[in-house]
Amino acid sequence: MTTYLERTEQASLLGTDRDVRRYDDIRQLLPDVDQPTPLVRLNRVGPDLDIYLKLEWLNPFGSVKDRAASYLLEGLAQRGSLHGKQLVEASSGNTAIALAALAALEGIPITITIPDGVPQEKKVLLRMLGAEVWETPDDLCPADKPRDGAIALARSIAGSVGGENFLWPDQYSNPDNVRAHFETTGPEIWRQTEGRVQTFVAGFGTCGTLTGVGRFLKAQDSNIRIVAVEPQKGHRLPGLKSFAEAREPEILDRSVIDQVVSIDDDVAYGMTKRLYREEGLIVGPSTGAIVAAVTALADPVLTVGISPDSGFKYASFFVDHLGDEGLPQV
Ligand SMILES: Cc1ncc(COP(=O)(O)O)c(C=O)c1O
Repeated sequence: MTTYLERTEQASLLGTDRDVRRYDDIRQLLPDVDQPTPLVRLNRVGPDLDIYLKLEWLNPFGSVKDRAASYLLEGLAQRGSLHGKQLVEASSGNTAIALAALAALEGIPITITIPDGVPQEKKVLLRMLGAEVWETPDDLCPADKPRDGAIALARSIAGSVGGENFLWPDQYSNPDNVRAHFETTGPEIWRQTEGRVQTFVAGFGTCGTLTGVGRFLKAQDSNIRIVAVEPQKGHRLPGLKSFAEAREPEILDRSVIDQVVSIDDDVAYGMTKRLYREEGLIVGPSTGAIVAAVTALADPVLTVGISPDSGFKYASFFVDHLGDEGLPQV
């Protein structure tokens, strides 16, 4: 079994040296317990609380999904050759961006199916990375789970005539997604908090983060509380899922979840704005939802929340939420 670095190994003049942050390959910036994403304290939005945010947007491809994407691709490579294959994956953008960058490095074509409500910025980045992008209307799937259109389209591409050339990582049911967080995110948080974390908060998405980190932290100390954040039906919080309108992913392990907190869009966007203006944090709206849940819990224990991505990919969404403030100055 070879890893991507062995597959692409080239002689370089300087070589990699993590101590001075010099790397031969962008993939060497992927996080692990010796090179974790930063944990930063929030000092203003919950002044009496001990809240730390894990800044996943400082990953090389810009989000928490860099971890899952690299494990998904490595898993496929280890189970069979990627040569001559194409990838297809359903994603609200972040997994897609990381997978498209990793696929580009391997020279593998990639098709992404994406809900049409995702910000334009993410779709443009995917096209910049050379991905073929198929948008699915949010109401593509009839019946009671309308938000699963992108998944249905990825499944049908992988199952179509000629579909044998497509590899579908299927982040919603692939245990490699969970393993990424069990082996990296969880151990990083444990080490960065010196084993003192008492509550962990993340959103329902594919549920790789909640299941992987939850299992790891509970194995260290079964008293650690795992809290899931769920948006409202019809929300505009890409990356998050309401299970009132989307099917629960196979990889969700409900046994590690102690509490579910519902956060609506207005509260999430309100907190997102506060994070910019009071903490100097340029985060995406799902981080606002997660921090809003942490402050609603108002639990005076060491709490770690995930900040899945940055705000740079959401300018078009924020304009809507700025109201009059968003008007250009004349
Ligand atoms: C912005 C954002 N927030 C939260 C999540 C949820 O993470 P997970 O898929 O591990 O449940 C994602 C994942 O897609 C995301 O992109």
